[in-house]
Amino acid sequence: MNHAERLEIAPAARIQGSVRVPGDKSISHRLAMIGAIAEGTTIIHNFAASQDCQSTLECLEQLRTPILHTGSTVLVEGRGLEGFEAPRRQLNAGNSGTTARLLSGVLAGFPFESTLVGDDSLSRRPMKRIIDPLRRFGAIVEARDDNYLPLTIRGGPLSAISFTMPTASAQVKSAVLLAGLQAAGVSKVHEPVATRNHTEIALSEFGAHIHVDAGEIKIEGRKALQGKEFSVPGDLSSAAFLIAAALCVPDSKLRLTGVGLNPTRSGFLSLLQQTGARILISQLAPTGGEPIGEITVETSELSGMDIGGSWIPNVIDEIPILAILGTRTRQGIRIHDAAELRKKESDRIRAVATNLQRLGAQVQEFPDGLLIPGNQTLRGGTVDSFGDHRIAMAFSVAGLIAVEPVTIQDPSCVRISFPGFFEWLDEVVYRD
Ligand code: S3P
Repeated sequence: MNHAERLEIAPAARIQGSVRVPGDKSISHRLAMIGAIAEGTTIIHNFAASQDCQSTLECLEQLRTPILHTGSTVLVEGRGLEGFEAPRRQLNAGNSGTTARLLSGVLAGFPFESTLVGDDSLSRRPMKRIIDPLRRFGAIVEARDDNYLPLTIRGGPLSAISFTMPTASAQVKSAVLLAGLQAAGVSKVHEPVATRNHTEIALSEFGAHIHVDAGEIKIEGRKALQGKEFSVPGDLSSAAFLIAAALCVPDSKLRLTGVGLNPTRSGFLSLLQQTGARILISQLAPTGGEPIGEITVETSELSGMDIGGSWIPNVIDEIPILAILGTRTRQGIRIHDAAELRKKESDRIRAVATNLQRLGAQVQEFPDGLLIPGNQTLRGGTVDSFGDHRIAMAFSVAGLIAVEPVTIQDPSCVRISFPGFFEWLDEVVYRD
């Protein structure tokens, strides 16, 4: 397939075979960052081949962390809690919110000035949510309009804080925990709605004194971490695209191996199972504290879905593909309480509604969600990725399940999370 400015995805006849799921993006960012402030060497196997995670590695190198990246293995020479040196240039987070927000939490502990920048999309995304708690720790933070990149941080001696999360965001929680790791005293984070807990798991694996109990996380500051060896589980958020395709395309049976099954991320699977999806999960022993397993999925009849409240943070990155699946359910799908989707790499509520309409589907857009009737046939057409990797991948699946080909404008943004995505589809998609 050629990765030109436009890419045509033809309908699939069936999806069959077995694929390995590439390394999880969220976990890869965290292991690299925490490895950099640990002591000794951290070896990360199956590191996500995503441009976002590459941005994280480049920022860490700018802070004088020696990194060796060979194939899918990354070796990080930890600098300890005091080892970073002031960067000579601005730190470029590219398109990656996780890089910008988590690294801000790390930088809050270092007594030098650094400036984080990003691409146009990232420069439009809100940073006030991390600026406020980092200032409370004692860091000096300045940003454009007090909310947007470029963001300049002068860190220094920090004092522990107690923080109640105003927005359900794992990136904010992680920034606070990473600053708390460097602060004097015990910091507390109260999380009214659970979000992905990869930072808590990784910190504990590196030897941090961290304790989680009923929505409250406590972390003891200034405890040295020890580097170690990890293997990153496959990214369920990437697997979700092929799972959705296999559910809708007739005569499909697909096996996905090495998939991360952390319960704070696997709501996509539970929701689908509740609607009648034939998804079989076999759990294996956790690796690096993260549950992992194998998934088998077969073509299924789906009822309908109403997704809101505490489900939203768990499935936040899967909502575009759930919306497309919604057209093929019997009763349709309603998504609410998801206004955060408008603050992602694109306004994902608008992007999904616009593209579904271009494929002839009925869809109603709300400030915090979408209503998509069921039993709809997607016709072919041209859609826009809006420069957003998950929109490009979700509408590639629309191409597989539509009656005519779907052309995606600007498909190359898939590199942000999954550069080999189109080749990966070709491994198991049959068109005869
Ligand atoms: C992420 C958290 C989520 C998610 C993003 C990755 C993370 O963002 O959408 O793709 O790695 O912590 P928010 O924390 O903004 O909800």
